[in-house]
Amino acid sequence: MTSFAVPPINPHQIFLDANAGSLTPSGPTLIRRLSDLAGCFENNEIFESEVSSTNPIVYQVISSTVPELPRELPQSITTIFPGNCGGELYMTKGHQHPDPQGEIYFGLEGIGGIIMFDGKEKKYVEITPGKIGYIPPGWAHRSVNSGGEAYKFLAVYPGSAGHDYGWVLENGMGLRAFSDGGKLVLKDFII
Ligand SMILES: [Fe+2]
Repeated sequence: MTSFAVPPINPHQIFLDANAGSLTPSGPTLIRRLSDLAGCFENNEIFESEVSSTNPIVYQVISSTVPELPRELPQSITTIFPGNCGGELYMTKGHQHPDPQGEIYFGLEGIGGIIMFDGKEKKYVEITPGKIGYIPPGWAHRSVNSGGEAYKFLAVYPGSAGHDYGWVLENGMGLRAFSDGGKLVLKDFII
């Protein structure tokens, strides 16, 4: 058997419930409220007002028990709730992988998309149930919920990829996603 500096975990089965947006067994659950997305939305005045009033939950991430360690392949289910802040769709914080490695997002429920930005080029890839969005190495990525119901997707990523949220705050995401009467509108991200 190949020897590893960090021993791999044992083979096992994970039950994915797409309706519940859950993994069993599961690891940690991350809850992000609007206040956790400081600096992400374009209209800071409306952002501050909504944070000081209802400060709603924008999204949650349920992780599997596979650890974020080199050579492991962790998974998570993200649920982005429907809504917007000043017309800008509810989104994840967005991140770059410090160790540039690819990732896949697999649509489970609802309609959403991935904004991707490599520092120059920008892309929007729509995700619906059954669609796989591929995030190539070196592309920062942020998900948005473009529909009227919860948007859920499964992420599978290399355990050593890491999450650099500061990169997005510094470089932007290339595009911003808005709702105009329920219709998705993409605008250039002005830094
Ligand atoms: Fe990622």
